[in-house]
Amino acid sequence: KETVEVPILIIGSGYGGAVSALRLCEAGKKVVMLEMGLNWEKSGVPFSNMLKPGKSAAWLKKKTIAPFMNIFSLTPFTGTLDRMDFENINIWIGRGVGGGSLVNGGMAVTPKESYFKEVFPDLDAEKFYNHYFPLVHKELKVNVIGEQFLKDCPYYKFTRVGEAEAHKAGFKTIRVPNVYDFQYMEKEYRNEVPRSAFNTEVIYGNNHGKNSLDKTYLKKALETGNLEIMDLHCVENIKLNDDKTYTLQVQQIDTSGAVVSDKVFNCKKLILAAGTMGTLKLLLQSNAVNNLPIHEQIGKNWGNNGNFMTGRNWVKPLSGGTGSKQSTIPVGGIDNWDDKEHPFFTEIAPLPMGMDVATALYLLINRVDKKGEISYDSTNKKLSLDWNETHTAKMRENADYFIKKMNRANGGTRSHFLFNNGFGADVCYHPLGGCVLGKATNEYGKLKAHENLYVLDGSLIPGTIGVNPFVTITAIAEYCVENLITQNEFA
Ligand code: FDA
Repeated sequence: KETVEVPILIIGSGYGGAVSALRLCEAGKKVVMLEMGLNWEKSGVPFSNMLKPGKSAAWLKKKTIAPFMNIFSLTPFTGTLDRMDFENINIWIGRGVGGGSLVNGGMAVTPKESYFKEVFPDLDAEKFYNHYFPLVHKELKVNVIGEQFLKDCPYYKFTRVGEAEAHKAGFKTIRVPNVYDFQYMEKEYRNEVPRSAFNTEVIYGNNHGKNSLDKTYLKKALETGNLEIMDLHCVENIKLNDDKTYTLQVQQIDTSGAVVSDKVFNCKKLILAAGTMGTLKLLLQSNAVNNLPIHEQIGKNWGNNGNFMTGRNWVKPLSGGTGSKQSTIPVGGIDNWDDKEHPFFTEIAPLPMGMDVATALYLLINRVDKKGEISYDSTNKKLSLDWNETHTAKMRENADYFIKKMNRANGGTRSHFLFNNGFGADVCYHPLGGCVLGKATNEYGKLKAHENLYVLDGSLIPGTIGVNPFVTITAIAEYCVENLITQNEFA
C-alpha cells in the first residue's frame, strides 16, 4: 500500500475544513486535505440542473434523490448530493470540493443573538457579533438582493406572494442574505451572462453565480501554495498510534465509485471536518474497528436544527400561484421566533419545477428541545440514530399552526401534493451536533481524550441554532482555529 506522510491533515472540504485550511496555510503550515467527493472545477464536468439531472445529481445512485424530484434515472457517478437514510429521518449532504456549499441554497443567516447565547452560554457573544460574523460575511461574499429587482422580477413571484400572504396572516417577514452574487443574477436576468439561478441550478451545483467555498476560502488557501487538496479520497477509518500520531486507511476511487487504490496516510495533527454525519461516522466506526478512544459525549446532543418541511396548495390555482419561473435562490423568510408558543423561522422556499404547481414550500427551523443521539451499530456496520416522532412533535405543532393561519387568511390547503400527510418531518438539510464544543471537545474543538485530534464542523453545534447554519459553522471554525493557532497547537 502506498504510504503518505503529512504533518497536518484535514478530512473534508466543507465550511469547517475550508476555514481551517485557510488560516493554517496563512500561518505558513503545509496542509493536506482529503475529500471523498470530486473536484468539479478541475474535472471540467458541468453541474446539472434540476430539470435535467445528470452526472452531478447524486452520489453513486441509480435514481435522483432531491426531495419531490426523485424520479429520474441516473448512471452512478460521484455526484454532489448524497442522502443518509434512517428510520424516521433522511439527511441530505453535499459531496465534492466545497462540501455542502456546492448543493446548498446559499442562505447566509446570522443567528439571533439571544438564541446564540442560549445555545453557547460560554462563548463571548459580543466578540462573535462584532468580529467573527462580520469576518465570515466578508470571506463568504454575503450580499443582499436589490429590492427593486425583487419587486419586478418574474422569477421572484414566489417570494412576493409568500411575503404578501405572510403579512396578511399577521406574520413578520425578513430579507435573507445569500452568497449568490445578486449583481450576476441581475445580469443573467438581462441575458448578458449564462443563467444559473434562473436555470434551475442549485441542489446539484451551480455553474455560475454562487460563491461556493471553492471560490472563497479554498481558493484563497490554495493561493498560499501551502494547501494540497486530494479529491476522490475517502477516509475509511482512523487509528491512534503509540506516539500519539494517527494512521488513516484511505480509498481512492474513480468517478464510478470503483476503488483505484488503497492508501495509508500518517499524520501528526488531524482535523476532522467531514460534516456532522461524516465526522461522527469516522469517530464511532474507528472506535468500533480500531479502538480509537472516544469521549462519552460523542454522538450525544444531535439535532436536525428543527428542520420541518411543509407546504400549501391553493384551492384555485390561479388565485395564488408562485409562477412557473422560479429562481432557485431563496431571499425571503418568515420570522416567528419571538412567539413564545410557536417559535419558528421559515424559509419561503422555491419549487422550480418548470411549471406553476400552485404550491408554496416552506422549510421551518424550530427549536430542538429534545435532542437525539447517534451510535454505531457494529452488526450492520452503520450509524444508528435515536430520533422519532417525540423529537419532532413540537415542530409538527408549529407547522400545523403556521399552515392553518396562512390558509385561514389566504385560502389554500395543506400540501398533500408534496408530502403524504402534508408534513415532511423526515427532511433534514441541517444535521448538527454529536461532538459538541466544550463537551466532547475542549473550548476550541480539540477532542477530549486526544492530544492531536480536532473537530471543526457542524458537529460542534448542539443540534440547533435557529437559522440556516453555515454562517455559524464558519464563525465557530474561525474562532476555534484562531485560538488553536495562538495556543501553538500546530507548531
Ligand atoms: P460539509 O458537509 O459542508 O462538508 C463535509 C465534507 O466532508 C463533504 O464534502 C464530504 O464529502 C466530506 N467527507 C465526509 N466524510 C468523508 C470521508 N470519510 N473522507 C473524505 N471526505 C469526507 N445551510 C445554510 O446555512 N444555508 C442554506 O441555504 C443551506 N441550504 C442547504 C440545502 C441543502 C440541499 C443541504 C443538503 C444543506 C443546506 N444547508 C444550508 C446546510 C449546509 O450546507 C451545511 O450545514 C454545511 O455544509 C455543513 O458544513 P460542514 O463544514 O459541517 O460540513
